[in-house]
Amino acid sequence: MANYIPEETIAEIRRSLDIVEVISEYVQLQKRGKHYTGLCPFHEEKTPSFSVSPDKQLYHCFGCGAGGNVITFIMEIEQLQFAEAVQRLAENKGLSVPDIPLSGTVKDSTHNRKKEAHQLASRFYHHLLMSTEQGRESFEYLLQRGFEKETIELFQLGFAPDHDGLLKELLVKRGFDLTDMEECGLLRRHEAAWELHDRFRNRVMFPIRDMRGYTVGFGGRVLGTGEPKYLNSPETSIFNKSDTLYGMDLAKKEIRKQNTAVLFEGYMDVISAYQANVKNGVASLGTSLTERQAQVLSRNAERIIICFDGDNAGQEAAVKSANMLEKHGLNVQVAVLPERMDPDDYIHSKGAEQFKKEIIEAAIPFMAFKMETLKKNKNLHIEGDKLSYIEEVLKQITTLSKAVERDFYMRRLADEFSLSFDALKQEQYRIYKETRRSFDKVGKPRFNQVQRERRGTAPFVNKRILPAFQNAERFLLAHMMQSKEITAEVGERLGGGFNVDEHIALAAYLYSYYGDNNPADPGAFINQLDDANLVKKASEIAMLDISRHLSENELVDYIHQIKNYPKWVEIEEKEQKMKEAEKKSDLKQALQLAAEIVDMKKALKK
Ligand code: GTP
Ligand code: MN
Repeated sequence: MANYIPEETIAEIRRSLDIVEVISEYVQLQKRGKHYTGLCPFHEEKTPSFSVSPDKQLYHCFGCGAGGNVITFIMEIEQLQFAEAVQRLAENKGLSVPDIPLSGTVKDSTHNRKKEAHQLASRFYHHLLMSTEQGRESFEYLLQRGFEKETIELFQLGFAPDHDGLLKELLVKRGFDLTDMEECGLLRRHEAAWELHDRFRNRVMFPIRDMRGYTVGFGGRVLGTGEPKYLNSPETSIFNKSDTLYGMDLAKKEIRKQNTAVLFEGYMDVISAYQANVKNGVASLGTSLTERQAQVLSRNAERIIICFDGDNAGQEAAVKSANMLEKHGLNVQVAVLPERMDPDDYIHSKGAEQFKKEIIEAAIPFMAFKMETLKKNKNLHIEGDKLSYIEEVLKQITTLSKAVERDFYMRRLADEFSLSFDALKQEQYRIYKETRRSFDKVGKPRFNQVQRERRGTAPFVNKRILPAFQNAERFLLAHMMQSKEITAEVGERLGGGFNVDEHIALAAYLYSYYGDNNPADPGAFINQLDDANLVKKASEIAMLDISRHLSENELVDYIHQIKNYPKWVEIEEKEQKMKEAEKKSDLKQALQLAAEIVDMKKALKK
């Protein structure tokens, strides 16, 4: 890959890193034999087809074809250039990469500058809050709301002063381009006015950080009361609101450890909960949960506890989010708060212990929550209400995908109303058939949106069976990546005689790789490829399960299949022509072709 970093440095970084460890920061991996598997972070899926090999230090997705080494992984997932990815990895390992000149297109440098400006602004606001007279009122406000100093530091809360132009001045002093600063939302202009102003004024600042802990935007809360209560950074090239979750950088470790995330509504709730030792909490960014955020959560945990405000709006939002999270395959529970309380209020009035025990750990399954909610608007002493309640619950039960769960809730219902379980089951089955029929009538498929998308777009690259010659080429290349000797053999007997374009290219690269006296190392080999498509192909091939040894017989067989393929193609063409000749009743031509085909097949069988 074109870069300015010495090969040795890259090699050293790759040696000191474990791909499993790096990828685990993004994907929940499970050991399966020699490989680790998980849900692919590059496309949406419910069953894991993403595979990581610690031996080869490579990854590959059998669903979408993504693949490569630790560096390409970071490039892809963080959308970084090669040099940036190397630097990021080095930084995290505490290795020094002296002055990497970032591959300097304009876009890259402005992108980096926007991010740098945000780190600077975040430190600036934090400093004002912690150590200046201007920030004192805000600091005291936060203390009075029960936040400890360490918590304020951990979340790097800050204060944006009322005095306009302070941030702008600092940015100018540090040489930031003001157009960039406007684009990334730190500065703004009023209408079409010429002058730029600080966006945030007289607000308590909540840096919004990406998964890696870099600030990409801010939420600013008014001191006391005022409108709007929260002012957020706009969506910019460095701040993608739909896939960012507040608190994820601090929570992700605990989320993976517990295999559970807690979803809150507000920034304050996340922070309060963290201080109360619920450290797996995140929040969406002032809007309702997005599909992308749900996807991020589903990649990191199997269970979600939704802990929203106890008021009606909060509970409605909880149902909406719960439905979406369920679609993403998550096991959803709801933590119910007393009315008119949000998590932050609850913690302050009842304490950390009680919050954890009585609210978070007492979370109930989404289905049970729906039953409670349906009950709220009914008077179950009235016969009509009771019947409609049972009917509505059965409808909800019908949406459950697991038979054991459906049975569980029907039993509960049967017990509660002293009904026969079988009668309920019959009724539930009737509802099931009815909803099926009504779906079929409007021609809607019965699976949900997410499944539909998955069916439509997931490219099942490797699920189909490849023709024999293609497999021969793939297996041969896999052996070549692991052995200089085999490569030499293949070079002599087959040379560039592969049939698939990418395979020809990979073989050529392998000949030159060993020609330069490099040792067999699939990871290092792939690292030298400068074409993203080849990197993917090579990773896929490198991760094929092959035995170390390749017998002479196997080698001959593979080469045979590869060399003969063009002849099989020729035979097929002749067969096609023969059929056409027969159609035109050109018997002479047809017989001629038939004879040729027989000869060719004979020769091939030898
Ligand atoms: P406190 O009132 O200080 O306890 O904050 P809170 O986090 O409890 O706020 P609230 O429950 O009112 O709102 C929940 C979340 O919705 C906030 O954290 C914000 O993300 C978002 N939000 C609330 N008010 C506004 C607003 O006026 N504008 C925007 N953009 N977002 C808001
Ligand atoms: Mn609150």
